[in-house]
Amino acid sequence: MNRQSFFKSLCLCATVLAMGLYSLPYAQAAAAPVSVPPAVWWRHAVIYEVYPRSFQDANGDGIGDLRGITARLDYLKALGVDTIWLSPIFPSPQVDFGYDISNYTAIDPQYGTMADFENLVRKARKRGIGIMLDGVFNHTSDQHPWFQDSRSAKTSPKRDWYIWADGRDGGPPNNWRSGFGGSAWQLDLKTGQYYYHAFYVQQPDLNWRNPQVVHAVEDVLRFWLDKGVVGFRLDAVLKYYEDPTLKDAKTLPGVNAFGQPRLDQSQMTNLPEVHDALRDLRKVVDSYPGHRVLIGEDYLDTPEKLRALYGAKNDELQLPMDMQLGFINSLSVPKFERAIADAADKLDGNQPLFVFDNHDKPRSWDRYGDGVHNLAIARIIAAVLLTTRATPLLYEGQELGMPTTPPTRREDVQDPLGRTGWPQNKGRDGERTPMQWNNSANAGFSTARKTWLSVAPGFQTVNVKSELADPDSLLNWYRRLIALRKSNPALYEGDTRVLHNNENVLAYMRSRANARVIVLCNFSALPQAYPLPDGLVYRCTLASTSTCSGSSRVIDLPPFGVWIGEAR
Ligand code: GLC
Ligand code: CA
Repeated sequence: MNRQSFFKSLCLCATVLAMGLYSLPYAQAAAAPVSVPPAVWWRHAVIYEVYPRSFQDANGDGIGDLRGITARLDYLKALGVDTIWLSPIFPSPQVDFGYDISNYTAIDPQYGTMADFENLVRKARKRGIGIMLDGVFNHTSDQHPWFQDSRSAKTSPKRDWYIWADGRDGGPPNNWRSGFGGSAWQLDLKTGQYYYHAFYVQQPDLNWRNPQVVHAVEDVLRFWLDKGVVGFRLDAVLKYYEDPTLKDAKTLPGVNAFGQPRLDQSQMTNLPEVHDALRDLRKVVDSYPGHRVLIGEDYLDTPEKLRALYGAKNDELQLPMDMQLGFINSLSVPKFERAIADAADKLDGNQPLFVFDNHDKPRSWDRYGDGVHNLAIARIIAAVLLTTRATPLLYEGQELGMPTTPPTRREDVQDPLGRTGWPQNKGRDGERTPMQWNNSANAGFSTARKTWLSVAPGFQTVNVKSELADPDSLLNWYRRLIALRKSNPALYEGDTRVLHNNENVLAYMRSRANARVIVLCNFSALPQAYPLPDGLVYRCTLASTSTCSGSSRVIDLPPFGVWIGEAR
């Protein structure tokens, strides 16, 4: 080996090592103290939400499970996933499919055993993948022993772990409504008081004003952090506190999704005390090595509100979800520009987290698709998700272009939200149908005769196996984008500058030192010509049409086309 190639391979080794480091929090664990963020892994991680019930069924009962997920790790590794967020896997009556937890420190037998979980963590770690859990701490199941104890008597030592109040004028304590419809209060006959539930009746809210509750939640975090999880996605963080005066909420014009009067939410959502709770939880994760991370579920409508969730001293959530981009729900160039610029400029340099899809909302395939160009539009969504500075979060099946498939008959509905809301609101089953692995029975998800939700029609072509074999598939587009993102510092940590040269084209430049990448997305059904900014030399690196055509100064973008190029 001559000197030059020796140094080349040395450099390559160092790069590969450095990349390995950021995707391997454990590798840093021994070396770096928590306060020094050399290359904090979660800034660069590709996070993938697995909805365990629907990912892969290993034991043939029609319900996905942990051994199923372990069996699919190589698929996720090849896609480029660094971190898996598992929706809840804890014992639960499954009223809200795991978001009603009856034991925080065990595994629901439907999903497997603690040994299965430990094996998943170990096998994932071997591949440089971290496991993140869903922390559902706004509420428990009504079957949780804490609540059983709390409801047993007004004098129970756990009475104050939940939110109890006397009724008013023969009805509930006030006019607050549950996010899932109806009053937020449930009369409990045993003691004649009402308990508060922001979600279903079977999900009583914990009382975060009680320090014992906070300590109990901290113990839950430690239990799993000790098992090697890399962090938590905190469910419904904005709902942790309620106004203790329990005054009626103001009525707003219009009706909600259930046809009920809309209420001002400021007494039950995003109270200032939320920050106290987040600081407490952050201290717990920070006491562990390896930069463990807290992601938060929030649907906030301004960058200022989102900024606050990082904490005044950046001591709260590292990655609150930025939903302003992913839920625009139409291809609007100005709205996309705004959301991308806000994330880059208005979060005080904190790391944004972009999300388009999850288990609660119709898939982006349908929210952004126009019914004709859905595949091309899905490529745009993928490109935007993977070429801004934000940490990208994907939801299973998004990479395949799985459509939303709501139930067609009320008797098939699983999500209680769909049963109460039928037929206007069909619930969330449509975005939870089983993952489509191949074109065999049940799309390779399960060998059961009947699966918990039916596999969506269309799986014969939209599935992992056929898409891997097709170079032009959405899945291969995702794989190329992820690989490109990981190989280019301008993409994974560069600055962002939105360019406005054509009202139909979303365009931005990402740059870090001399590395520059320009991203062009045609948001229209007509071809567009985009003149590249002067003074630089461009080379196409990835384009959604099969030709990544060269070095011309004006890029011809086909309808809904994407063009990504390097600039020097
Ligand atoms: C979050 C979850 C959702 C659940 C709700 C109540 O929004 O993502 O699935 O129903 O919280 O826990
Ligand atoms: Ca199973």
